[in-house]
Amino acid sequence: MNNGIEGKVVVITGASSGLGEATARLLSAQGACIALGARRFDRIQRLANELSANGGKAIAVATDVTQCDQVKRLVDTAAQTFGRVDVMINNAGLMPNSPLDRLKIDDWNRMIDVNIKGVLHGIAAALPHMKQQKGGHIISVSSVAGHKVRPGNAVYAATKHAVRVLSEGLRMEVKPYNIRTTVISPGAVATELPNSVTEPDVAESVHKIYEAAIPAESFARAVAFALSQPEDVDVNEILFRPTRQEF
Ligand SMILES: NC(=O)c1ccc[n+]([C@@H]2O[C@H](COP(=O)([O-])OP(=O)(O)OC[C@H]3O[C@@H](n4cnc5c(N)ncnc54)[C@H](OP(=O)(O)O)[C@@H]3O)[C@@H](O)[C@H]2O)c1
Repeated sequence: MNNGIEGKVVVITGASSGLGEATARLLSAQGACIALGARRFDRIQRLANELSANGGKAIAVATDVTQCDQVKRLVDTAAQTFGRVDVMINNAGLMPNSPLDRLKIDDWNRMIDVNIKGVLHGIAAALPHMKQQKGGHIISVSSVAGHKVRPGNAVYAATKHAVRVLSEGLRMEVKPYNIRTTVISPGAVATELPNSVTEPDVAESVHKIYEAAIPAESFARAVAFALSQPEDVDVNEILFRPTRQEF
């Protein structure tokens, strides 16, 4: 029986670790063709080799999501290699949280560039293919911080709110092309994300929160759930947390 995943061509940004890597493994095991994008090419090349050795189909393309032409190259290469693009997962992101009065302007700009513009670049790269195919699925990664702000994460929360707004706007606009849109908002999931915090005291408190983190497969299963629905079912939002997480 078709699981809604087998044979689909899936592009994943931020596939070199964490949620992206776990999703690549799960979807590959379920028969999807995977195009992996991230800046650390050695990591995604190794992952592509591993997925291929296990009987899957995978390619790796060095991609910095802040560069629109690089994201386009990732998606176009997936289309050339596998014949189409069914799913775009805008996953790359970082979380260098700090109170606003520390004026960590470089961190603010990096979050805006990767977490917001990176998602827009993914949409820009995938839409032409999906419009032409009259079908596709764009999944973007927000966060619990896309639903709630708290002291110390204002810029990250703003970028993740933006991802939800973009995904909802996109949802309404792409009806004529039969494209599905899903935004997934995880709580604390065990990945390298806390390492992106640049302020030592903030890093310490983030690492404490992440003691309750759940495995990255929790996210991958949420992606698989959205993908495996019948074509006329569009799962637009998934919000999940560790059972122990209060925020
Ligand atoms: N883990 C959580 O608790 C959690 C919760 C809510 C939301 N999220 C979101 O989940 C997404 C994935 O994060 P993660 O938790 O899996 O963290 P992670 O392990 O640190 O992974 C982040 C990924 O983003 C990629 N990335 C960063 N900057 C990039 C750039 N300029 N161009 C291309 N790729 C870039 C990294 O690859 P390279 O460094 O190799 O480029 C890496 O593959 C992020 O959007 C994050 O905000 C995570």
